[in-house]
Amino acid sequence: MTGGLSRYGLLGDPVAHSLSPSMYRAAFVQLGINASYEAVRVPGGDLDRLVREMRDLAASGGGNVTVPHKEDAARIVDVVRPYAKRTGACNCFWLDDSGRLVGDNTDVGGFLHATRDLNGLDLDGAKVLLLGAGGAARAVAVACELAGVRRLDIHNRTAERAERLIEELGLEKIARTVAAPPGSATTYDCDLVVNSTSLGLEPFDLLPLSFGDVRVRFAFDLVYGRGGTEWTRAAEFAGVPARDGLSMLVRQAVLSLERWFGVESIQEGTTDTMWAAARDGLNLGSAG
Ligand SMILES: NC(=O)c1ccc[n+]([C@@H]2O[C@H](COP(=O)([O-])OP(=O)(O)OC[C@H]3O[C@@H](n4cnc5c(N)ncnc54)[C@H](OP(=O)(O)O)[C@@H]3O)[C@@H](O)[C@H]2O)c1
Repeated sequence: MTGGLSRYGLLGDPVAHSLSPSMYRAAFVQLGINASYEAVRVPGGDLDRLVREMRDLAASGGGNVTVPHKEDAARIVDVVRPYAKRTGACNCFWLDDSGRLVGDNTDVGGFLHATRDLNGLDLDGAKVLLLGAGGAARAVAVACELAGVRRLDIHNRTAERAERLIEELGLEKIARTVAAPPGSATTYDCDLVVNSTSLGLEPFDLLPLSFGDVRVRFAFDLVYGRGGTEWTRAAEFAGVPARDGLSMLVRQAVLSLERWFGVESIQEGTTDTMWAAARDGLNLGSAG
């Protein structure tokens, strides 16, 4: 620690356009915390560097981990908190009082908080269609289990990866793999469809699922963009209430702050402050 300034940061690749530094810096100012937050590019496969950067940051504050290092981070930490253990992925780390490196997963809670913004959606007993089976899908699948989802249908381009996800997370009781679309609008319906694929990150990507193919009540896209994504706009056009992943990004960041500084240190306006910074980062101003 230098002159009372704590250092926090995001480790991943790519990180150049991450909204995290703006969100956390705004929160630090609002909370009166003397800390910095930087995005640090750590190329995939460079485990030595990941270990070094995690330990350095933890010694002076803490940090977050993003693609492609979340699973490695869960193996690196000395203490794996329950959500990180359950998902096998760590996106938030810090040192405990005994100097041990602790890792947690705040994507699970971030998803649960964010879907609460979909008025009328109750995950308890719901049927959910999950598109994708990567790292983020694991957090969504665990969140669905925790929330009491009755049936989780998972479609992934690479079917074996979805099968592996179900097996490794022990979700056989509620989850199964399905084709896309899993039926037709007359034969398949669900309460919520979640896009956890990376489709939508690039301008000319196909939509993850057509809303004409199935009957769904709500849609949630982990990808985010200005005024939502192509897919959330398509959902709304089809009369399906939808949210993009900006809410999850903000909520998981607030949960990270709680892990680092304690729940009691977070003020009422902190979430709003981080929302505003994230929206500004997307050039949205305070609208929407
Ligand atoms: N909002 C948030 O807070 C938040 C948090 C975490 C992640 N995310 C977003 O969630 C997305 C997934 O992240 P991740 O960590 O899970 O990435 P990942 O582990 O690399 O997984 C990518 C997923 O996308 C699928 N996919 C990629 N290209 C595809 C294509 N052309 N057609 C169909 N499926 C395709 C992959 O299928 P295969 O298995 O067949 O390759 C896999 O299921 C990213 O866009 C990320 O930015 C958002």
